Amino acid sequence: MRLFPALLRRAAAVLAMVAIAGQAASAAPRALPVGRCLNLGNHLDTGDAQDKRLAAEDFHNIRAAGFTTVRLPVNWAKYSDPVGRGHGISPLWMARVSAMVDAALDAGLNVILDSHHFDALHGDPAAASPWLAALWYQIGWQLADRPTTRLWFEIDNEPSDRLTNANLMATLGPALAAIRQSNPDRPVLIGGENWSNVESLASLPLPADAHVYPTFHYYTPMGFTHQGASWVRPPQPAGRSFGTPADMARLAADAERVRQFIARTGRVPVLGETGVFTSVPLPQRAAYTRAVYQAFAPQGVGVCEWAYTNTFAFYDWRARQWLPGLLEAIGLKPGKAR
Ligand code: BGC
Repeated sequence: MRLFPALLRRAAAVLAMVAIAGQAASAAPRALPVGRCLNLGNHLDTGDAQDKRLAAEDFHNIRAAGFTTVRLPVNWAKYSDPVGRGHGISPLWMARVSAMVDAALDAGLNVILDSHHFDALHGDPAAASPWLAALWYQIGWQLADRPTTRLWFEIDNEPSDRLTNANLMATLGPALAAIRQSNPDRPVLIGGENWSNVESLASLPLPADAHVYPTFHYYTPMGFTHQGASWVRPPQPAGRSFGTPADMARLAADAERVRQFIARTGRVPVLGETGVFTSVPLPQRAAYTRAVYQAFAPQGVGVCEWAYTNTFAFYDWRARQWLPGLLEAIGLKPGKAR
């Protein structure tokens, strides 16, 4: 007879804990502390063959400008064995990328390390999934002792072509499992179909893993951000400006999509890429950068600008200066070391 009230008390206590956990989930969605972030675009993803070779001093430069995180896009597939069972990564490439990760960490930056331009994966997801898993198995063990609070993995940049939200976890799941062998609790980012556009969040499958974070990219409207970009089909004509009432309404609607995603999932996505091609006049690039930052950052979304020195450049490496107006657009002050 005495057991019954005791059981009731216990049940009430458990219910209270569940309620508190529920409250905590709705009151404080899970977010990675990305903050202001810069992509090291077209360096290690294009084979490090650009004019400007990435060096340790670049990370100090980026940290001094006030960024807290860098996203390091890396083409791992190109430097690995495409056919051998282990898909061995070239030791030289592994050492080069590891040195860049360490240089960023040493400079006080958080790092999002991805796999970029793995086109074979997007063309035939089922066939290339074991290759992706083999890459992350090697990367995971290589970097397992770096702090989980500051180094985060992103399994695949911009799923596209035949890799959709429908087969996303079947394709990326083995890579996540390979990472988890050596990195049980390292944050891992996963982006959705159609180049991880903001619409992809609505049906993004999220595995039951407390350390997985969603990510998306934002280049809307493409006719503005990618005008003159040779790699976009069809090519976008030059001369489009940004900031009409329709542009701003679209941005507000997209910010609302993100708000709803956070409310539904309790996870805050990372905006892994956004920016404007360098062919666009700087004041226009700055206006877009400011508008996008102000639309998403107040929701706790970390924003990674594309990119440091190339294609959508933030920094003029020949003149050794930040391009006017872009740091200011995300609330940073050029020349002020932090
Ligand atoms: C690609 C870059 C491209 C950028 C903007 C990135 O994901 O890797 O090559 O410049 O998107 O289109």
